[in-house]
Amino acid sequence: MLDIAIDPDQPAAELYADLTSFAAALVDGEPDAIANMANIAALIWQYVPELNWAGFYRVVDGELVLGPFQGKTACIRIAIGSGVCGAAAATGKVQRVADVHAFPGHIACDADSRSELVVPVFKDGVVVAVLDLDSPRPDRFRQADEAGMVRIIETIANNLG
Ligand code: SME
Repeated sequence: MLDIAIDPDQPAAELYADLTSFAAALVDGEPDAIANMANIAALIWQYVPELNWAGFYRVVDGELVLGPFQGKTACIRIAIGSGVCGAAAATGKVQRVADVHAFPGHIACDADSRSELVVPVFKDGVVVAVLDLDSPRPDRFRQADEAGMVRIIETIANNLG
């Protein structure tokens, strides 16, 4: 839809500044959370290198339920507190996992996943969803990726829940 000139190989801070601007533009004026999650998952999938899964789980009736994503088919329901996504939802804290095999309770939806970044989405101080990113490369996600994804999510959180 948007014709975006983003260089995925530019320094992370610049890549995430660009992605934040385009994410804000994509959701601007659109209140439907599912539609917005679908576009944000597609945006991240297209421009962030070395991912094998990018998408959302929503908090529905006290558990995480699969939302819009890009990548292989995935687990549909995850208990709050279970796995990396469940830990992010339970604690409200970003989970940046260098080696998913070393994370107690990690849920292997895609056997290719080696590292993971999960960012909680807050609305009115409550976690309403998580953004989940998986990579086939161990230790793929650095501090700059965490800061960049948090910035994207904080910028558009009102349109995701
Ligand atoms: N690995 C996640 C489950 C979701 S999939 O990666 C898409 C976890 O442990 O929460």
